[in-house]
Amino acid sequence: MSAAAHDVSTDAVQETLRPVIEVQNLRKVYGGVPALDGVDLQVRPGEVVAVLGPSGSGKSTLVRCIDQLEEIDGGAVFLDGELLGYEQTPGGLRPLSERGRRDQRRLMSMVFQQFNLFPHWTVLRNVMEAPVQVHGLSRDQARQKAVQLLERVGLAEKVLAYPRHLSGGQQQRVAIARAVAVDPRVLLFDEPTSALDPELIGEVLQTIKDLAAGNRTMIVVTHELEFAREVADRCVFMADGRLIEDRPPEEFFTDPRSERLQAFLPRSHGGSGQERS
Ligand SMILES: Nc1ncnc2c1ncn2[C@@H]1O[C@H](COP(=O)(O)OP(=O)(O)OP(=O)(O)O)[C@@H](O)[C@H]1O
Ligand SMILES: [Mg+2]
Repeated sequence: MSAAAHDVSTDAVQETLRPVIEVQNLRKVYGGVPALDGVDLQVRPGEVVAVLGPSGSGKSTLVRCIDQLEEIDGGAVFLDGELLGYEQTPGGLRPLSERGRRDQRRLMSMVFQQFNLFPHWTVLRNVMEAPVQVHGLSRDQARQKAVQLLERVGLAEKVLAYPRHLSGGQQQRVAIARAVAVDPRVLLFDEPTSALDPELIGEVLQTIKDLAAGNRTMIVVTHELEFAREVADRCVFMADGRLIEDRPPEEFFTDPRSERLQAFLPRSHGGSGQERS
């Protein structure tokens, strides 16, 4: 093998190994109380990481800090090796300008519990607007892409409907199509099914599963244990603002190490079920 060919393969390997998201010793404090207390997390390209834990353990705060919706109080978050929210100056680190942050935030998409669609826009426009406004696609390109994505989430017939005419599950699938439309480096989900009636949860989970199969890098905060077990490459468990287990799903569910996780998992998932009852 020539030296040049060797270099190329090494670069390719490095690229595969480098985390898309790296969280280092992240700290976030609300009114003197830590919501995140030294969290470390790495998410590699194509990985799906499920974040589980009791209410108030810091799951939303974690994804919101990654998406720069919250100021952080310590530690750092990197996207493709680039520090988020700060820039290096001769005098040290300085908070990035709003514009700089916006540029970084374009590389991520978050899907919220409440779908946050624009009510006065059609489904199509909800999905195509960010690619046009933020990413500079032509309206034709964006429309074509939006229609394809809406077909993929099973909503081909709804492109010209308004959000109020859709079920919650359909609205959330639009929100997912919208998040994907900007080709983000990472997709963040914060309990995407917890505002839905039980009979609508399955269709949204299936949509997320399909995305996962398409090699997307994703962090999914969820209470859906079956889903996490089936879809995630790694499950992480948070309690009291700390990330206390980070394991492949089979180990996570069948051999929980910490007492907190054992208590959190129901008996049917290998836990003691004490914290849920
Ligand atoms: N904007 C805020 N102001 C003050 N405290 C906050 C704020 N957001 C979160 N917290 C606190 O931070 C802690 C972590 O909250 P967070 O919303 O991250 O928990 P969670 O794990 O997402 O819980 P849930 O499962 O209920 O969504 C909680 O104690 C919460 O009360
Ligand atoms: Mg939350």
